[in-house]
Amino acid sequence: MRRIPIEYAREGDILGQTLYNSYGGMLLRKETLLTDSIISKLKRQGYYSLYIKDKYTDKEIEEIIKPQMRLRIHQLHEEMQGIIREFNDGKKVNINSVNKNIMDLNEIVEEIVNETILNKDVLLNLENISIYDDYTLTHSINMMLLSIVIACDSGFNMYQIKKLAIGCIFHDIGKTFIPIEIINKPGSLTNEEFEFMKLHSEKGYEFLSNYTDLHAVSRNIALSHHERDDGLGYPRGLKKDEIHIFSRIAAICDVFDALTSDRPYRRALSVQESMEYILACGGGQFSIEIIRTFSNSINIYAKDTLVMLNDGREGLVYETNVGFNTRPKIKIYGENGRKVNPYVVDLMENNNLIIERTIHKFSFDIDHSYEDIRF
Ligand SMILES: [Fe+2]
Repeated sequence: MRRIPIEYAREGDILGQTLYNSYGGMLLRKETLLTDSIISKLKRQGYYSLYIKDKYTDKEIEEIIKPQMRLRIHQLHEEMQGIIREFNDGKKVNINSVNKNIMDLNEIVEEIVNETILNKDVLLNLENISIYDDYTLTHSINMMLLSIVIACDSGFNMYQIKKLAIGCIFHDIGKTFIPIEIINKPGSLTNEEFEFMKLHSEKGYEFLSNYTDLHAVSRNIALSHHERDDGLGYPRGLKKDEIHIFSRIAAICDVFDALTSDRPYRRALSVQESMEYILACGGGQFSIEIIRTFSNSINIYAKDTLVMLNDGREGLVYETNVGFNTRPKIKIYGENGRKVNPYVVDLMENNNLIIERTIHKFSFDIDHSYEDIRF
């Protein structure tokens, strides 16, 4: 199973992952046989990419967030947004109902933290985002999952990680205060619009400060996730250690997930390209130490990714070398565009070989199923 750009999807392909709408309801069940009309409909709904089952691999994608959890998080997030809208309209907010939501979310987050820590290897199965989905929430969930892994690998305990995770869910709740035309504008914002958009961090923080059941550390993520180590972030222009460590972790995961997500105005970057971007920000916008943990924790060449090597060989990632994410073992299926009998090369033992890029299909035809081509 692999994620492919939607224009590579063909009639007869089998959907590898259930697609949900923004309310957690099922849009298309996993294993659905795709037809031209379904593919066109998905394109119209704004999907740029999909997971399909293919002949290269039988890898299943596990879901960290179960459908019931997803539905409950969507409901809670929507309730919070509804409360903010009422608050904006001058209505009195029922503080007890908000605190009840936060307590509910605490329970769900505890489950998610446990699941994520147990299933770190499947983490890159982040949510697919349709432009008609609630981007803010889906993105917040992805950012939360990434942040949990980084915090876990940085040595924080469960109690601390839960505070980080809840902060991630609400990090952009302040966008509910910003006019929807600015939030959904397909293209770059004017300076004036951007200044308005920047208010979301303070607005979100102020709103969340009404609720004592939400820990100060969690609220701080709403306030500080756009601060940058070099002092060029907002709203306060804080630097390095002036920014809480959880906001610094959240900031990196925020940018990484935004880059890897399809947006109405641009296609997602690959995981590798996004990682390159993050690495390039080390020592400037972001902390080198956190980025080091991030790049060691996030496996950018997941097992079964199709790749092209710098000498023209094509293959799939066969096994990761622990601690050396960019140097996995590759099972080669083709050389210079021609199919060969599969064999494995270990990039750790071949210093002159590098992965040039990931590919969506081999340049030659494989006319049998993966069972035939596996050893
Ligand atoms: Fe934000």
